[in-house]
Amino acid sequence: MNDLTGKNALVTGASRGIGRAIAERLAADGAAVAVHYGSNDTAAKETVEAIEGAGGSAYPVRADLGAADGVDELFTGLERALPGEALDILVNNAGIHLPGAIEQITPEALDHAIAVNVRAPFLIIQRALPLLRQGGRVINIGSANTRVAVPTEPAYALTKGALNALGLSLAAALGPRGITVNTVSPGTTETDMLAWLRHAPEVAAGVAASTALGRLGQPSDIADAVAFLASPDARWVTAQVIDVSGGLFLGPGAFQGA
Ligand SMILES: NC(=O)c1ccc[n+]([C@@H]2O[C@H](COP(=O)([O-])OP(=O)(O)OC[C@H]3O[C@@H](n4cnc5c(N)ncnc54)[C@H](OP(=O)(O)O)[C@@H]3O)[C@@H](O)[C@H]2O)c1
Repeated sequence: MNDLTGKNALVTGASRGIGRAIAERLAADGAAVAVHYGSNDTAAKETVEAIEGAGGSAYPVRADLGAADGVDELFTGLERALPGEALDILVNNAGIHLPGAIEQITPEALDHAIAVNVRAPFLIIQRALPLLRQGGRVINIGSANTRVAVPTEPAYALTKGALNALGLSLAAALGPRGITVNTVSPGTTETDMLAWLRHAPEVAAGVAASTALGRLGQPSDIADAVAFLASPDARWVTAQVIDVSGGLFLGPGAFQGA
């Protein structure tokens, strides 16, 4: 465990999946966590209750990051909960999947994915800048599909690649304030986003067989890497894209069954 006592964290998309695991882990380490979510009040409440039940501190903040004023709504909620307080850790985790070959992606679907996966993290960081303390942390959740080609996910890959590029420039810009900026890239991780995998055991087995460590990822696998980046131990790590995929698709011959 790390000691994040006295730190304030914002985790977007923390009602479910990877974001929930990140919120729970940062709270277990001592941070007070803003549990952002889009629409699922019940899931957000469950996350906050789980954190509080474990002795941590958390509060929900609702905002639809696909809406034009979603980031305003998020910061109104945050500033209401934390009036005048600084932020130490920002985790841009909320995201949507957009499967489909290039021929199948409509302009509307592309705009929505860019709004949630790219525009929102950019504007959230912009709005958080005055609140972020010296030594703060910005951690964006990307995807291993910026390293591995997935022909049926070009639009999704584009949105995640944007975060990798953003992290590099921002790390240079925010370094003078002691703020680190890193991207964590999960591989295939068992959450609602890939709920269909629960009904496709042969596909799940194929992914596991194509993973060096031989299984699918769990949200806590990702959360623990984020917790490291949020911790004082990661003070000298910035501008990195860190693959947290268990070694997904490492190359020809890496298939466990081959
Ligand atoms: N699962 C994977 O295999 C995988 C792999 C690589 C990268 N990732 C990335 O990891 C992150 C988390 O994924 P996940 O699998 O945990 O997803 P998930 O289980 O589908 O959860 C998504 C979270 O984002 C929130 N969200 C979705 N759309 C939103 C919107 N328009 N406005 C505000 N909040 C919104 C949801 O809030 P509500 O509960 O209110 O809907 C929920 O908290 C994403 O950025 C994803 O791209 C996931």
